[in-house]
Amino acid sequence: MKRTQNCGELRAAQIGKKVTLAGWVHARRDLGGIVFIELRDREGNTQLVFDPQHNKASWELAQSLRSEFVIAVEGQVRQRPEGTINPKLPTGEVELLADTLEILNPSETPPFQIDESGGAQAGEDLRLQYRYLDLRRPSMAKNLKLRHKVAKTARDYFDANGFLEVETPILFKSTPEGAREYLVPSRVNPGKFFALPQSPQQFKQMLMVAGVERYFQLAKCFRDEDLRADRQPEFTQIDLEMSFIDREDMYALIEGLLAQVWLAARGEKIPTPFPRMPYIEAMERFGVDKPDTRFGMELVDFTADFKESKFKVFRSAVDTAGGVVKALNAKGFACATQGQIEQLTETAKSFGAKGLAFIKVEGGEWKSPIVKFFSDAEKAALTSKLKIEEGDLILFGADQREIVWEVLGRIRLIVADILKLERTGWNFLWVVDFPLITFDREANRYLSTHHPFTAAVAEDVPLLDTDPTKVRGQHYDIVLNGVELGGGSIRIHQPDVQKKVFEDVLKIPADVAQSRFGYMLQAFRYGAPPHGGIALGFDRLLAILCGTSNIRDVIAFPKTAKAVDLMTNSPAEVEPKQLRDLHIKLDLES
Ligand code: AMO
Ligand code: AMP
Repeated sequence: MKRTQNCGELRAAQIGKKVTLAGWVHARRDLGGIVFIELRDREGNTQLVFDPQHNKASWELAQSLRSEFVIAVEGQVRQRPEGTINPKLPTGEVELLADTLEILNPSETPPFQIDESGGAQAGEDLRLQYRYLDLRRPSMAKNLKLRHKVAKTARDYFDANGFLEVETPILFKSTPEGAREYLVPSRVNPGKFFALPQSPQQFKQMLMVAGVERYFQLAKCFRDEDLRADRQPEFTQIDLEMSFIDREDMYALIEGLLAQVWLAARGEKIPTPFPRMPYIEAMERFGVDKPDTRFGMELVDFTADFKESKFKVFRSAVDTAGGVVKALNAKGFACATQGQIEQLTETAKSFGAKGLAFIKVEGGEWKSPIVKFFSDAEKAALTSKLKIEEGDLILFGADQREIVWEVLGRIRLIVADILKLERTGWNFLWVVDFPLITFDREANRYLSTHHPFTAAVAEDVPLLDTDPTKVRGQHYDIVLNGVELGGGSIRIHQPDVQKKVFEDVLKIPADVAQSRFGYMLQAFRYGAPPHGGIALGFDRLLAILCGTSNIRDVIAFPKTAKAVDLMTNSPAEVEPKQLRDLHIKLDLES
């Protein structure tokens, strides 16, 4: 029996037609001697009817059907009887009266029911272990289809804009500047390792030197990072690079791409161009470089207002170099419980704050142990700048500005969740003018804010010699509703500038820079065109389009938060001989 239709296809127009369907038994009901089967395939569900009056043999065989059996059925499409029409199902007006049934393959009882409630009950580990069953669930199948559609939309868009898709190597070289890497030992080069690429960054720049001019790739990237809901050890970027362009060209290109994607994926027109915000403004107003601008509750600065304060905590912050006092107004949250305040304070402390001073505005009073220290002028400043009203909760941060940004930035999001603030719409935002370098407390030195190939903003170039921390990079991030979708930059293309950034700004010793990046410096001496690019997180983009906060839901075979593939049981031990061939001795003690 060869299938003639899929299970999502039949409508009233086909009534009377003989068809053959094939698929999986989704549900079985025995009703007064008649067997009803809901047959499922990738495209939908169709009701099958096995009636002993019509075909006894098929009806008998149908009794043996169980969930997830694979079957083929030939029969006649008929109108469902009055009262049994299912308007929720696209095929709900009709059913197939079965003539012949063939069991193509039985199935063991699946560990969870193949539908949304079954998936929810199963929990993610079980779903990942039986991913081939999980992907049969309509919501997962829908995500895979959307992923395909968005990939195709992107490819068509780039093709129409003169881009070439070029594959870059997966076996690459270690570049310890970025995230931790996955290393691959080389059997034929004892003691030497490849690294899996964190991104195709260096290759795409070489493609520009090679005269490709416009490159794109749906690129697999690998990072051995601590995983979260929005991170995977291997993930996909929409990666691209262009020659002879400036930042404006890049903004227009990506706005065009995202507009096409939203149209194809959701049938929605998104307004372009997107607003732009300098990094420093994002930090001052929202405490993060990827602000969710769908709601207010912005950070407000009171450093000047508290410069003579009698409240020691604020005063000493202001008196310290780099110290600030900032506050936000959690409107209507004066009802916060003691427990909630304590939890927020703990969160603040976990990000380096010494505390989280607060004022509850209740019963016409400012309730807080710290209010007694405030002068009338300080109170007036708070009232007017924070628009304080009855029922508000004011939360303060007083510390080094980076700490206050981070703490209040996070508190803002947590409070928005607690208050269930309405957050609708698509707030695309370009965040621009990042500092070229940032002091890394862990490494105790200056590192590139993004990567060492980012060009400085032209007018800041002279500062590279005198005050490099003041130099802005020609970097841009594309942010959507508080998620960093992607980032990129105009690159350095002059070998002397690149060398200076490696050696003088980032203080990478000349021999180390040479061994790591020597080939790039050399390539730039052979006529490198000015160029720039960007990479969008393809999985994150899809997660947003699919309305999930978990990127595993848009990846066919993802890893767990512990970087494990539960279906294939990987990573796994290997044979001693394999290790010997690779010249590797294990030391599992250290
Ligand atoms: P960057 O490191 O910012 O830039 O990465 C670009 C985008 O990739 C996504 N992303 C991830 N998605 C899932 N899991 C991860 N572990 C993960 N890490 C990053 C994010 C991020 O914005 N070569 C540069 C781009 C350039 O300069 O052109 C780069 O890789 O959405
Ligand atoms: P203290 O004077 O240390 O008892 O603190 C009084 C209030 O200020 C408490 O609510 C603390 O949580 C809060 N607090 C202490 N240090 C800071 C700080 N650096 N920033 C914001 N609030 C703080």
